[in-house]
Amino acid sequence: MNIIVTGAGSGIGYEIVRLFAGNGIHHIFAISRNEKKLQKLVRECKNINHQSIIVPLVLDLLEVPDNPGSLKPVKASINHIDILINNAGKLINKPFQSTGMAEAMNMFNTNFFAPAFLIRELLSHMGKKGKTHILNISSMGGFQGSSKYPGLSYYSASKAAIAVLTECLPAEFRNPDIRVNCLALGAAQTEMFNEAFPGHKAPVSAEKMAAFIVDFAVKGYQYFNGKIIPVALSDPGD
Ligand SMILES: NC(=O)c1ccc[n+]([C@@H]2O[C@H](COP(=O)([O-])OP(=O)(O)OC[C@H]3O[C@@H](n4cnc5c(N)ncnc54)[C@H](OP(=O)(O)O)[C@@H]3O)[C@@H](O)[C@H]2O)c1
Repeated sequence: MNIIVTGAGSGIGYEIVRLFAGNGIHHIFAISRNEKKLQKLVRECKNINHQSIIVPLVLDLLEVPDNPGSLKPVKASINHIDILINNAGKLINKPFQSTGMAEAMNMFNTNFFAPAFLIRELLSHMGKKGKTHILNISSMGGFQGSSKYPGLSYYSASKAAIAVLTECLPAEFRNPDIRVNCLALGAAQTEMFNEAFPGHKAPVSAEKMAAFIVDFAVKGYQYFNGKIIPVALSDPGD
């Protein structure tokens, strides 16, 4: 399969790529801004499965809306995308009153506009030679009716935005071969979680959360389209 994973430099995204590398001979584009982390990931994947094809792509996703040419390496080397996992995310844990426009925009740009424009720019490679599953990674904080926490208002709102976009896109595309879903994740032990909830222990590891995401990315499109699915034992921080 041809697979794209954003936010592959650390946490859940890193584990997603490792798991895909181990479960078949896939062509995986791993996107991060950090070249060193990607090189480490490629080395680890080669050890797991020397036949895995991991293409590291050093890219700041905030550039995508203004510079779609940055996706040339992807578009030029494959003609069909089977799975796109929009996993990259930004969390700035700060009270609403003291969060400035630049910080709020950073979260909305990373969590909403970047994945939205990534989908738009890659559409020409989707749903034409088989099914494409677009999987957006949101948060329980952006899930309607979930518990809310101080300091996470803009983050949660930006995650709610990508979740609702997920519901809208099947109606836009009207292509049964492009399926779009969203997983609203609960707490998983990563750098981001440690920053948001210092001192707390998450009920699942990054690897365990990644295992669910990989499984859902491969199979979930057969059962769901345009859906927001909570993946949580409890609300974050409990
Ligand atoms: N961990 C949790 O408890 C939890 C709960 C709910 C939802 N989530 C969501 O799960 C996803 C993964 O989070 P995580 O916990 O694994 O966090 P993480 O370890 O902080 O990973 C986030 C990734 O996003 C990437 N990223 C951020 N801004 C980027 C940009 N402008 N361009 C390219 N890449 C960028 C980072 O890449 P670089 O290597 O370039 O820095 C990093 O690899 C996020 O969407 C997060 O919101 C996590």
